[in-house]
Amino acid sequence: MPWIDACASDDIEEEDVIRWDHGGQTFAIYHGADGAFYCTDGLCTHEQVHLADGLVMDFEIECPRHNGVFDYRSGKALRAPVCVDLATYEVRDVDGRIEVLIE
Ligand code: FES
Repeated sequence: MPWIDACASDDIEEEDVIRWDHGGQTFAIYHGADGAFYCTDGLCTHEQVHLADGLVMDFEIECPRHNGVFDYRSGKALRAPVCVDLATYEVRDVDGRIEVLIE
């Protein structure tokens, strides 16, 4: 499966997130406090809300609607009302371009 070019690494501040749409699907790409980049499905598993509108704290994303929390590195649901984990995707930084492995 291909690596897809998503954005420039400069497009995302550290401890921030952007929305990225590709192939009819929505993703969220995060720039972690460790300097690494991460990608999850873009919609909350509780109700289909864009997580990129939420708040990044350390390695967690807080959904803007009901404040459910996920670990964006593993996709794990950490705080109710979310109970279904997010899908995660491999990310690599190639000369300042962020690429996501889409299965
Ligand atoms: S829609 Fe995300 S916690 Fe409810």
